[in-house]
Amino acid sequence: AGRSVVVGVGHYLPERVVPNAEFEKTLDTTDEWIRTRSGIERRHFAAEDETTSDLATKAAEAALADAGLTADDIDAIVLATSTADLTFPSTATMVQARLGMTKGFAFDVQAVCAGFVFALCNANALILSGQAKRVLVIGAETFSRIMDWTDRSTCVLFGDGAGALVLELQDGQGTSDDRGILSTDLNSDGRYKDLLYVDGGVSTQSTGHLRMQGNQVFRHAVEKLAKTAEVALERAGLTSDDVDWIVPHQANIRIIQGTAKKMGLPMENVVVTVQDHGNTSAASIPLALSVGKKNGQIKTGDLIVTEAIGGGLAWGAVALRW
Ligand code: ACO
Repeated sequence: AGRSVVVGVGHYLPERVVPNAEFEKTLDTTDEWIRTRSGIERRHFAAEDETTSDLATKAAEAALADAGLTADDIDAIVLATSTADLTFPSTATMVQARLGMTKGFAFDVQAVCAGFVFALCNANALILSGQAKRVLVIGAETFSRIMDWTDRSTCVLFGDGAGALVLELQDGQGTSDDRGILSTDLNSDGRYKDLLYVDGGVSTQSTGHLRMQGNQVFRHAVEKLAKTAEVALERAGLTSDDVDWIVPHQANIRIIQGTAKKMGLPMENVVVTVQDHGNTSAASIPLALSVGKKNGQIKTGDLIVTEAIGGGLAWGAVALRW
């Protein structure tokens, strides 16, 4: 049986870097508080005229270059975002046009911070069902556009950015030693809407701002993330002992540490970028994969488990061999 194998990865971060200290000028907060509670030291913010599709296109171009491919080689784009340029068309079709891709198909996936995991599962299913041979999977966000800059408990936590993977169908024997996506696990529970949401949207006729009961989200996060990662590994016939890298959604260092501990893995086995990027929602996992590969942590053949949770609540995990 075939597998969806990662053949390229890339990312893009907006130029403007904002260190924690900048928030001290306008809010009752400190660099110390932000660092110790979240692990975040700085984040990137998009320029006024820079949109999610701009970031996504640059990340996609980087991933294509890494794979040695062009847009002509791609059958589909699956893009995860909660901060689309426009209500429609999808950000994915805008990226499709910007890449000069005139065949195939493109669509957005919306599962907030778990968006990339959901997009990866969708892309994998398209490949395994024979609908596509090569898929660009992108996570791209401009969360700076939905921050309430007077709310110190949320606006210091998020950042903008984009990351992308190229997935390709490759024949293999289908054992867990072969490269590619080995298993997936998706979950959501809409009863938890009020813990994390944007208080506006098209149908309510406003853009809205992100609202979060951070300590409540925290409580759900560690337990649900460790569980979904274990379920994904079990489906692949593996345990956490087999894992080379946890590549978690980068929301908060304490959630990342708590999840690793619950999985029985030391922080040496975790790719961490939250200090430099903040929480970039659906972009955080592909950003971490790209940075982790570039800095020499992630190598061909490594067993990776990615996990994420976000608004919905929605959460999930993917086990893959790089
Ligand atoms: N600076 C200074 N003080 C602050 C700040 C700030 N930026 N923000 C909040 N505080 C204050 C609060 O007002 C509160 O004060 P009070 O005790 O006088 O009421 C105090 O700090 C403690 O607030 P808590 O919310 O209990 O602080 P906690 O230790 O839980 O840390 C945090 C807050 C960082 C938000 C944490 O709860 C967290 O990370 N939660 C998970 C949120 C998250 O990661 N969400 C994203 C996951 S899903 C997704 O990616 C969308």
